[in-house]
Amino acid sequence: MKQRTVTILPSLLAADYGYLADACRLAEAAGADELHLDLMDGHFVPNISFGPDIIKMARHYCKLPLNVHLMFTHPHKYTRRVIEAGANTVLFHVEADQPDTAALLAEIRDAGVRPGLTLNPATPADALFPYLKECGQILCMTVNPGYGGQLMIEEALTKIAAIRQHAAAIGNDTLSIMVDGGVTTATTPLCIAAGADALVAGSSLFNAPNMATAITEMRSAAAAASL
Ligand code: DX5
Ligand code: ZN
Repeated sequence: MKQRTVTILPSLLAADYGYLADACRLAEAAGADELHLDLMDGHFVPNISFGPDIIKMARHYCKLPLNVHLMFTHPHKYTRRVIEAGANTVLFHVEADQPDTAALLAEIRDAGVRPGLTLNPATPADALFPYLKECGQILCMTVNPGYGGQLMIEEALTKIAAIRQHAAAIGNDTLSIMVDGGVTTATTPLCIAAGADALVAGSSLFNAPNMATAITEMRSAAAAASL
């Protein structure tokens, strides 16, 4: 199997909301590669989480690259604010109601931020294909978005191979494919074997007795699956 560097991103959604700055510092000290921030509008998903000001907070309290997942019906209305708040990657849903997906991806890239698309478990891989050339990262949801702490829908992983194949066919060899939802040390090998190179984990990392140990164990599981 092709050896890929695996990126691990704790998801702030699972942190203690009374100590968010401490959670950012904890993730950085524990060896996370990036921090994943889930913004939800209560319309695209049946939950409301936090807004751009929490991105600004994370930017102030830690140095990790900020990986922002927009679960918004109208992501185009908020990307400017999310970028100004300090996002390094902005991912929005291919199922969302934006007027021009390619233009929004280009707008994010033109701002010096990595653009990406997210697809829900039920959405087929080819929904991404018209836009794959514009994407720096794809987020393959392995739970229905809106809440942390759910069990992984493993069938969703089968899309990754088709995404990788199409990306290679159009010359996007640097595409990162990230998995999000139910990622634990136990499910990590499935994600790596499916072709993922980035893992978002909320509850399995923020609920761990020691996040640094949990990240080390997740990295070891990923390395073993890459052999
Ligand atoms: C769900 C979010 C995920 C979630 C992951 O809508 O997009 O990032 O926080 O949480 P766990 O790892 O607990 O499934
Ligand atoms: Zn997410």
